[in-house]
Amino acid sequence: MGKISAAITAVGKYVPDFVLTNKELETMVDTNDEWITTRTGIKERRILKGEGKGTSFMAIKAAEELIQKRGIDPKEIDLVIVGTATPDLQVAATAAFVASEIGATNAFAFDLEAACSSFLYGMSTASSYIESGRYKKVLLIGADKMSSILDYTDRTTCIIFGDGAGAALFEPNEEGLGFQDEYLRSDGIGRNFLKIDAGGSLLPASEETVKNKQHFVFQDGKSVYKYAVSNMAEVSAKIMERNNLEEKDVDWLVPHQANKRIIDATASRMGVDSSKVMMNIQKYGNTTSATLPLLLADYEKQLKKGDNLVFAAFGGGFTWGSIYLKWAYNS
Ligand code: UT7
Repeated sequence: MGKISAAITAVGKYVPDFVLTNKELETMVDTNDEWITTRTGIKERRILKGEGKGTSFMAIKAAEELIQKRGIDPKEIDLVIVGTATPDLQVAATAAFVASEIGATNAFAFDLEAACSSFLYGMSTASSYIESGRYKKVLLIGADKMSSILDYTDRTTCIIFGDGAGAALFEPNEEGLGFQDEYLRSDGIGRNFLKIDAGGSLLPASEETVKNKQHFVFQDGKSVYKYAVSNMAEVSAKIMERNNLEEKDVDWLVPHQANKRIIDATASRMGVDSSKVMMNIQKYGNTTSATLPLLLADYEKQLKKGDNLVFAAFGGGFTWGSIYLKWAYNS
């Protein structure tokens, strides 16, 4: 028996129906379609509407699509991880609710929070469980209802983010496909630049924090941009170097969708042509934990068994990194 690697064997996605366009945002804040398009690459984003629908609503839909596509019994799933910065509730793990709702009654479940790097870090976690031989089916979901933590009077943040969910199933592979290598980083300096000030243990919710709008996302965009653009490019170049990958060996760059300019800079540093760069930021904006699996779902039909994928992400904390994975199936 060969060495066990961790392969993605199915993907699923869900985005809400409601489309919030740049034009619509022009009526809400002092912005315009041209500024948003040229600065970020975003044209529209999806927003989850309706009372009583949290992040789990989208996570469940994405997971159900995956389960149906893969044709498995949810009872076979050993572990459900939900990467999210917007859990349904502060204490109860969203993943536990998702696992129960999808019928994964034999699984244990937990949330993983690393802001926009949640799914990337989750890939590392899921793969480690599979490679160790401890579990056979790990369901990793990236889901965020960013609209629940945005101030729609703040033009510096409300134009960027959107809601969505994506899921990937990790299973053992004996052909050497799947997860190959990772280079993951973090730096606590980042919490000055991208954060929600209140509602955590440092500054619990109070009338004052609500009045001061401290439960919304704050981002010093310029500073985050500087760190993101250099670090995402650096880790992606590093993972190529470490694995002796030349530009021609990379079939796809799978980059976190925060800003088209950051993605272009990463691709350029890697020497990868834009035709090999997955991109859907124009449709969904930055969906935080959901960007990477949404890309996989949108590009699934173009992926071939054996393709070399380089994932890269950068997010709050700061957290960032790159993962090299070989695609394991033709769809
Ligand atoms: O996913 C997690 C990690 N996050 C990121 O990677 C995001 C990184 N940051 C960015 O993507 C960019 O910094 C933004 C897209 C957030 C902003 O783009 P920028 O080119 O860095 O713009 P800026 O913040 O430097 O602002 C430039 C100007 C400012 O006006 P002045 O001071 O030059 O007169 C802003 O007030 O644009 C103004 N501005 C806007 N104008 C129209 C800021 N937001 C808007 C807006 N519409 N929505």
